[in-house]
Amino acid sequence: MCRGLSCSIEIQADFYSLANCFTCHRCQGYIKARMKSEEKRRTRFHSGHVPFSGIKTYVDPDTYEDPTQAVEEFTKEIDPSCIRIERVIGTGEFGEVCSGRLRLPGRADIAVAIKTLKGGYVEQQRRDFLREASIMGQFNNPNIIRLEGVVTKSRPVMIVVEYMENGALDSFLRTNDGHFTVIQLVGMLRGIAVGMTYLSDMGYIHRDLAARNILVDGNLVCKVSDFGMSRVLEDDPEAAYTATGGKIPIRWTAPEAIAYGKFSSASDTWSYGIVMWEVMSYGERPYWEMSNQDVILSIEEGYRLPAPMGCPVALHQLMLHCWQKERGQRPHFSDILTFLEKLIHNPSSLLTLVNDVQRLD
Ligand code: ADE
Repeated sequence: MCRGLSCSIEIQADFYSLANCFTCHRCQGYIKARMKSEEKRRTRFHSGHVPFSGIKTYVDPDTYEDPTQAVEEFTKEIDPSCIRIERVIGTGEFGEVCSGRLRLPGRADIAVAIKTLKGGYVEQQRRDFLREASIMGQFNNPNIIRLEGVVTKSRPVMIVVEYMENGALDSFLRTNDGHFTVIQLVGMLRGIAVGMTYLSDMGYIHRDLAARNILVDGNLVCKVSDFGMSRVLEDDPEAAYTATGGKIPIRWTAPEAIAYGKFSSASDTWSYGIVMWEVMSYGERPYWEMSNQDVILSIEEGYRLPAPMGCPVALHQLMLHCWQKERGQRPHFSDILTFLEKLIHNPSSLLTLVNDVQRLD
């Protein structure tokens, strides 16, 4: 179903006020980013640790000669007797995903999701499987899926994470089409922006940000999940091979990342704009039935997704800002977060819908 009035429009919005809002924050962001990299360089030179600065950097597990060390450093081993598997809720590339309960000594039991590594794996598969845990174990943020721990000293090998009652955001929105207020939808987008601000501050590039990789809890809190980059893309049914052999979810990916593999927090911002569109259209497929090749060509010609039905103008303008061809012109996640919080604190800013503006023209 096509919710927009036309399937593609050229960027034509007046970005004056939006650009103004971003310019001042961009300068601050630039200064902050410079201070951060200076400080990181200084502290790394001395000890490799960042004392008292509050700045933490993500460590790529691939930089460890022995990836088992990364697992030991960033994850907690769980005794399998603490885990009760209840039911199968899905299948991943490596094996089943189950729901269940975790009861750690001296703690109340909690609902968890358990990813298992199916038997018959080779060492490389075990490493790839546990790679995600050693990435997730480095994060601590209310909008990033929380790792409870791993089971590596007995079989099956498992990754245990917090349970998210409403599952993946794309299917959750499709089964609840039209059921939320604009403020609730913006609240979901705010949560994702909080998680992405944290990841970009840590120096982590997600590369596969999409509604299918966001999980939703029972209170509508959205959390970023699916870490592991190359593995994530292997696992993602949306990822297609490019001419240069990379496997990329074309509809969610920035043009420079598709064309020459330039992934960055700015390419994550492009994907965030697509997630905004997915949320405001209740899980519609971006660019509908267009082929990947047509999507690439249309974007190159300057076409962008139109506003979903009932979408506030301010949100569509933010999407268009995330989809600027020049990656340096796209907002940082902290800018996106500031902008969304202003909208939430001033709900009348969300009353002008794109459809109303089109009717006045
Ligand atoms: N599916 C995959 N991971 C999940 C989780 N953490 N909670 C609920 N469903 C999931």
